[in-house]
Amino acid sequence: MKMLVYKKTTTIICLLAAVTFAALTSMSSDHDDHHGPKNLKVLPKNIPHEMLHKVMDDWSEALGVHCNFCHAGGEGGKLDFASDAKPEKNMAREMYKMTAKINTKYFEGKKDSLNMVIGDIKCATCHRGSPHPDEVKFGADMNNHGPQMMHHDGPAPVKPDSTGK
Ligand code: HEC
Ligand code: HEC
Repeated sequence: MKMLVYKKTTTIICLLAAVTFAALTSMSSDHDDHHGPKNLKVLPKNIPHEMLHKVMDDWSEALGVHCNFCHAGGEGGKLDFASDAKPEKNMAREMYKMTAKINTKYFEGKKDSLNMVIGDIKCATCHRGSPHPDEVKFGADMNNHGPQMMHHDGPAPVKPDSTGK
């Protein structure tokens, strides 16, 4: 008799566990199908939705671009965020890895709870609102007077007429 009760309890526990497991897995696959990111190669795969969007906003702002600079258009005029069709997206991945490496190797790069490197060097450190930091000009008068960064004796004098503004 005692044995029978024990068996019944075990069966019930097993059934409950199975039902819970099924519910949990169907919930998570449902979630992935509709909302979760599908194609993350450098960002943590478990990155929360709000965090992913904060990173994307930061990158857009740092480069002075909109989402479609990196993300290709998909069906119905919407952006297909998972698509890798635009080379700029892959370039951004390389840039992300490079930035993490600079922070780890040359600065006190720490890792946050998602294992993302946070440090002094950010996209904006180089980009400053432009997708092409390699093409930044020092000012229209650079060829005539040399870059103002070359002055070593105190701050460069303010010459309001030399910038043309
Ligand atoms: C400078 C390039 C760049 C800009 C600008 C950018 N993204 Fe991204 N985005 C990426 C890269 C790169 C990935 C993939 C990251 C990875 O591989 O881990 C990504 C991934 C995503 C994903 C996940 C897609 C998936 O299913 O894998 C979403 C959603 C997303 N971006 C939304 C946005 C939104 C919204 C904006 C505008 C506010 C934006 N992105 C602007 C480069 C960019
Ligand atoms: C150490 C400086 C530096 C940092 C930090 C940096 N970038 Fe760049 N990035 C550059 C330079 C320089 C170029 C231009 C390279 C070229 O044209 O070949 C560039 C080019 C790019 C491009 C390609 C633009 C195009 O028109 O094809 C993307 C996209 C980009 N960076 C995204 C990022 C993102 C996102 C981050 C931060 C995760 C970042 N960069 C951090 C220096 C930097």
